[in-house]
Amino acid sequence: MSRNYFIAGNWKMHKTRAEAAALAKELVAALKDGRHKYLVAPSFTALETVAAVVKGSNILLGAQNCAAEEEGAHTGEVSVLQLKDLGVQSVILGHSERRHLYKEDDGLVNRKVRLALKHGFDVILCVGELLEEREAGKAEAVCRRQTVEGLKGVSAADLQRVTIAYEPVWAIGTGKTATPEDADAIHAYIRKVIAEAFCPAAAENIVIQYGGSVKPDNAAALMAKENIDGALVGGASLKADAFVPIAKF
Ligand code: 13P
Repeated sequence: MSRNYFIAGNWKMHKTRAEAAALAKELVAALKDGRHKYLVAPSFTALETVAAVVKGSNILLGAQNCAAEEEGAHTGEVSVLQLKDLGVQSVILGHSERRHLYKEDDGLVNRKVRLALKHGFDVILCVGELLEEREAGKAEAVCRRQTVEGLKGVSAADLQRVTIAYEPVWAIGTGKTATPEDADAIHAYIRKVIAEAFCPAAAENIVIQYGGSVKPDNAAALMAKENIDGALVGGASLKADAFVPIAKF
C-alpha cells in the first residue's frame, strides 16, 4: 500500500490564541520525529498564531471551513483568499456539524470543495451517516451521495489533493466508536465509489480517514484495517497527551 497515514486534529470551537499556541508548541516538539502526516485545524481566530508556531515543522495547518465565494457581501464568512493569506494549507469541508447544525447541503459543500481546490488548498471532505440513517440501512447510500455530490466537477488531478474523512455522526463526541470492521467496510465502499466516479488508481491512492471518538486506546486497531488510512480527531486532539499517542500509534 502506498498510502501514508494522515492524522489530523480538528480543534472545533475551542481554545484562545494563547491556549492554541501552547498546544501547537507541545505538538511540534512531540511529533518532530513522527512518521505520519499531521495537521491541526484551529478556529479561524487562532490560525495566524498557530501558523507561526507550526511553520517549518512537519505539522500542516488547516481551517475548519471556508466560504463558497471568494469575496463580497457575506457577513460572518471567511474567504479562501483570507485563509491563504494566513498560511493555511488545507480546509476541512462538509463536517457533520456544518451539515447538520448549519444546514450545509451537498451543493454548498461541493462549491466550497471546488473553490478551495481552485485556490490550491488541500481538502478534507467529511462524509457520514446519522444514527437513524444507519439503522434504516442507508449508511452506504448516504456516504455515496455525499462523496459523489461533494466531488462533482473535481478533476482527477485535483482529487490527488483530497482526503475523505468518514465520520459516522453517531460516533462523534459520543464515546461510541464504529468497530474497526464496520468502519473498514464503509471505507472500502467509499473507495469503490471513488473507483466508479474517477478510476481504480484514484480509489487506490485516496486517503480515507476515520473520525468519531478516536482515542489513544482505539487508534491502533482502527489504523490496522486495510482501508483506514488515518484519523480526524476531535475531543482527543485538544490535549497533547491524548493526541500524541494517536499521532504516533
Ligand atoms: P470526536 O473525536 O470528538 O468524536 O470528534 C470527531 C470529529 O468530529 C472530528 O472532526
